[in-house]
Amino acid sequence: MNSLNATKRTYGFLWLRPKRKSLPPRWHFADMQEIIPEPIVTGKLGIDVGSGCGYDTYFMAKNNPLVNIFSLDISDGVYTTKEVTSGLKNVRIIRGSALNIPVRDNVFNFAYSYGVLHHTTDPKVGMMEIVRVLKKGAPVFLYLYEDHSDNWLKYFILAIIGMLRQITVRIPPKILYIITFLASPFVVLLFSYPARFLKSFKKTQGLAEKIPFNFGTSLSSVTGDLFDRFSAPIEYRFNRGEVYNLLYNAGFVDINVKKFRTKAGWVAWGRKANVNR
Ligand SMILES: C[S@@+](CC[C@H](N)C(=O)[O-])C[C@H]1O[C@@H](n2cnc3c(N)ncnc32)[C@H](O)[C@@H]1O
Repeated sequence: MNSLNATKRTYGFLWLRPKRKSLPPRWHFADMQEIIPEPIVTGKLGIDVGSGCGYDTYFMAKNNPLVNIFSLDISDGVYTTKEVTSGLKNVRIIRGSALNIPVRDNVFNFAYSYGVLHHTTDPKVGMMEIVRVLKKGAPVFLYLYEDHSDNWLKYFILAIIGMLRQITVRIPPKILYIITFLASPFVVLLFSYPARFLKSFKKTQGLAEKIPFNFGTSLSSVTGDLFDRFSAPIEYRFNRGEVYNLLYNAGFVDINVKKFRTKAGWVAWGRKANVNR
């Protein structure tokens, strides 16, 4: 199976699980908007590139009924998106690749993509596609994995995960999901709860941020993250400069790259240049 089909299989499995009744109170969009000092949703038309099961598409569309949101994903997640966003007239769902967005040039007023380009075979091509479909001057908002080259503990753990991934990406999704579900309480007890405790003191807040899986809440809360980490066939990781260059080389200006304090990764945004560079 090639890596694209394996990506479809992994996320198809993950995203066919949730049902509309289990719509969470907030999703990644809310965390992104807390960091980005300008409204993400602007203009008349936006695109959620790699929308997964459609939760972020749902929140963007529900809270901005005058903005049409295109929700693009390569996996069976589009069927869950259809269910999740049913009743919202301002959502259009497209099944397709971020590396070949089936939309003409200069269309969108904004593009949003959370945790997607690092799972594609070529993040640079994805970036070029996003810039192509944006109108001149329109913003992009991204979340990308970091390589943790500035944090020896996370870097070390990442290296171990990298080795384990050689095996885990070959495990059928259903079995891997059960394993990650069973592993989640241990990870939460070992990492997330101690990190939460340390976060409550000013002096140890910095240390808490360095602890992996510091974002876990309930015992099963990191199942999805563990599954994502161990199942996704393709996983690129970036340092700050590489994220900046990804946007710059694609033709973005006014670029910002910020560390996600509560999660591991980069939040990056910028706007498509008005003139070709
Ligand atoms: C980690 S999930 C993030 C989903 C969603 N953005 C969210 O925050 O819940 C990554 C998503 O990227 C999608 N994906 C991976 N490669 C893709 C590609 N080439 N084109 C479109 N979507 C892709 C996967 O199907 C998956 O739904």
